[in-house]
Amino acid sequence: MLEKNKPFIIDFESIGDSQLGYISVAEVQNQVPFGIERAYWTYYTPNEVQRGFHAHKELQQVLVAVSGVIKFKLIDQNKNELEFVIDNPSKGLYIPRLYWREISFSHNAVLLCLASQVYNEEDYIRSFEDFLLYKNV
Ligand code: TYD
Repeated sequence: MLEKNKPFIIDFESIGDSQLGYISVAEVQNQVPFGIERAYWTYYTPNEVQRGFHAHKELQQVLVAVSGVIKFKLIDQNKNELEFVIDNPSKGLYIPRLYWREISFSHNAVLLCLASQVYNEEDYIRSFEDFLLYKNV
C-alpha cells in the first residue's frame, strides 16, 4: 500500500534502450496513488523565477520533469522542510495534500503534473500564514 501522507519519489520503469529511446508510463493505482482527473504542464519558466508558493486543501499530484531539472522545497504544517530534485524523465514526485511548495526550474525544464482533481481555485491556500493555520479535517 502506498503511503499517501508524505511526499515520495516514484521510479518509473524506463522501457526501451539507448538505441531506440525510452517510454515511461504513469498508471492509476500502479505508479500513481490516485485517479488522474487533470494533466497540465508548465514550461519556459525563467531560471531566476520560482513558482508555487501555495498549498492545496485536497489536491494530490505527481510531478515529472519531462525535460530539465526541477527543484522543490516542500513544507508541512509543522514547518518541516523537505527538498527534492527531479532531473530525469523516469522520476516522479508525489505531493500529498497540505504541502506548501516552492519550485525552481532550469531554463529548459518542462514540468508535467498529473492531478487528482480538476482545477478549482477554492482548493488553493496562497498565504503561508493561512496554510499554517488551516485546520486539517
Ligand atoms: P498556479 O497553480 O498558481 O501555478 P504555479 O503554482 O505553477 O505558479 O496557476 C497559475 C495560473 O494558472 C492561475 O491563474 C490559475 C491558472 N490555472 C488554471 O487556470 N488551470 C490549471 O489547471 C492550473 C494548474 C492553473
